[in-house]
Amino acid sequence: MITIQVNASTKYDVLVGKGLFARAGELTKEVLSPCRALILTDDHVAPLYANALSASLTAAGFVPEVYVVPHGEGSKSLGTLGALLEHLAEHKYTRTDAMFALGGGVVGDLCGFCASVYLRGIPFVQIPTTLLACVDSSVGGKTAVNLDAGKNLAGAFYQPRLVICDPDTLSSLPPEIFADSCAEVIKYGVINDRALFSMLEDGISPASEQIIARCVQNKRDVVEKDEFDTGMRQLLNLGHTVAHAIEKCSNFQISHGSAVAIGTVTIMRAAVAQGLCPTADLDELLSLTKQLGLPVSCDFGADELAKAALSDKKRAGGSITLVVPYAIGDSRLCKIPAADVGTWFAKGLA
Ligand code: GLY
Repeated sequence: MITIQVNASTKYDVLVGKGLFARAGELTKEVLSPCRALILTDDHVAPLYANALSASLTAAGFVPEVYVVPHGEGSKSLGTLGALLEHLAEHKYTRTDAMFALGGGVVGDLCGFCASVYLRGIPFVQIPTTLLACVDSSVGGKTAVNLDAGKNLAGAFYQPRLVICDPDTLSSLPPEIFADSCAEVIKYGVINDRALFSMLEDGISPASEQIIARCVQNKRDVVEKDEFDTGMRQLLNLGHTVAHAIEKCSNFQISHGSAVAIGTVTIMRAAVAQGLCPTADLDELLSLTKQLGLPVSCDFGADELAKAALSDKKRAGGSITLVVPYAIGDSRLCKIPAADVGTWFAKGLA
């Protein structure tokens, strides 16, 4: 087992290791006294893992209840949140009880936000079952639901008490979901970890304990320096300005991971076109992205994507912050006029 300590406003451990899922109850008991435990999961994950988690928690003295929401982004809504909060209140959960997020990013974000507002905050534990949730969304305390106006527009910074990440649970992922998550693994390499990128090129599985732990360490290092996302945490948005625009333009038919893969390639190509990044690094990125089964281009035009990007919440006044790769392992924040976004995108699209 690899333990990564996160020293954020709440200190907690991220545990990475094969076989940890079965030990979730005993591991949680080391940080939370046995209590009532609402396991939030979705209808894809529930049949695979809910009974086993309930059994592990029960054996450790917790009193679990499983609450299932439909899979997919639609559950990250005010309606689902409201129903969940009413359920907790009707069933008299108290501040000494806890929630468990069992699943991917949607469940984790919804669970974390619900835990942050119910009774002004109850503990929650993240048990990610997708690679994306293991390496990104379960760590760092960003929780949210979507509004009609956009993704993640209502949320809170609220850290979990524990994250239990068992790579064995990733083996049940459909290949396309697994490939999708690889985009966020590549992302850490391009941001500031050349060695991680090279490990992936060498063919080490993105689902290996070492790779997952290295991604989590990267994220931890950023979160500890900028928990509330006022500066360098924005580096984690590499590829995401383009990605969110692609998601929006495709009416969310192009998945987040695919969009991030295209977005990362697009922004690096734009950097190469402006002489900021070597062409050889773009070639390496293209090669690894394809090798991991991810797309590198889309059919949307620069103007269409720029329009969608500028309605994104990350726009501040007349400027937008882009994460620009100067090399694999050296990405930097660049504030550019909003009016220049279309030009950047045009340079980046193949
Ligand atoms: N997923 C980006 C962040 O946690 O800041």
